[in-house]
Amino acid sequence: MNRWRDRAFATIVVAMALASGFQVAYSGQQFNQNFFVGWAPQNTFLSNGGSVMNLKLDSNTGSGFQSRNTYLHGYVSMSIKLPPRNSAGVVVTYYMSSPRNETTTNWDEIDFEFLGNVTGQPWILHTNIFTSGQGGREERIFLWFDPTKAYHTYSILWNDHQIVWYVDARPIRVYRNTPVTRATYPKWKPMNLYSSIWNGDSWATRGGLEKINWTYAPFIASYTNFKIDACPWKLPGPAPACFTNSRRFWWDQPSKWTLNASERSLYTSIRKRYTVYDYCKDFKRYPVPMPECSVRPW
Ligand SMILES: *[C@@H]1O[C@H](CO)[C@@H](O)[C@H](O)[C@H]1NC(C)=O
Ligand SMILES: *[C@@H]1O[C@H](CO)[C@@H](O)[C@H](O)[C@H]1NC(C)=O
Ligand SMILES: *[C@@H]1O[C@H](CO)[C@@H](O)[C@H](O)[C@H]1NC(C)=O
Ligand SMILES: *[C@@H]1O[C@H](CO)[C@@H](O)[C@H](O)[C@H]1NC(C)=O
Repeated sequence: MNRWRDRAFATIVVAMALASGFQVAYSGQQFNQNFFVGWAPQNTFLSNGGSVMNLKLDSNTGSGFQSRNTYLHGYVSMSIKLPPRNSAGVVVTYYMSSPRNETTTNWDEIDFEFLGNVTGQPWILHTNIFTSGQGGREERIFLWFDPTKAYHTYSILWNDHQIVWYVDARPIRVYRNTPVTRATYPKWKPMNLYSSIWNGDSWATRGGLEKINWTYAPFIASYTNFKIDACPWKLPGPAPACFTNSRRFWWDQPSKWTLNASERSLYTSIRKRYTVYDYCKDFKRYPVPMPECSVRPW
């Protein structure tokens, strides 16, 4: 079924690209078309005929992959299954970031991070956003399901009006471009999509109290249903038509400039029930909250 949907989608996109003379990224079952392994290939493997990518953490190393293209605005989505049993200290990341190296100080980044736990205790979903290298906007929630039992879908919508983090199509976080946030809205830097698994036991679980128990290694995170429906823009180079003419695309329709009624009620109830940490409410850390904390989510 998925294969069908993706094929149909790829066909439409290719037809559109041919008709309009510019390129749009497409989702594919085949991992290698869209991504490459940038960290520790020996700790990664494909399964299910190339449609599932697996990242492994053992006592030697973690591993990671990234998209081949950089994108400015669009929608990225992936189904992820996290390592079962005792995963305290294990961190799985899934994020977009503008390209950076050791000397880059002004990168933009939109994050999902999953923090493992001891057997029977819940994983935490941690989110953050960086503009020009400035982060410190952490939020944490518990999930309403066990993310190790089945695949669940994690997505980012990014246009010039809002960034939305979705879990199984439910919005869990919004960062809006408003007069108050204009200076801190990720706007001009195209980003890659990355994912990795690594040892975060110095801080991740109960603040670093729980260390990785290597008896349970290797820890494996699995990925499938890759979908990148976004505007590829490789700098330096002129703005591509998919950016200058972005309103042609579903991710930049007025209906996607703000959450709709059903999304608003999902957002409200999820945040009420599952929030663990919200930097906007951490007055010890930020006696004066960050400017966006006063912005309504819609
Ligand atoms: C890091 O990236 C910047 C800008 O992209 C580039 O100018 C610089 O040469 C890079 N430095 C290294 C060490 O690769
Ligand atoms: C792990 O479980 C403990 C106990 O339920 C909880 O306090 C903690 O928030 C959980 N997650 C992490 C990442 O520490
Ligand atoms: C790691 O897990 C094993 C199996 O549950 C247990 O026997 C061992 O005591 C654990 N090690 C540590 C350091 O907690
Ligand atoms: C709201 O948006 C979602 C997509 O995120 C869509 O599935 C749903 O049908 C929309 N609901 C309304 C009431 O427009």
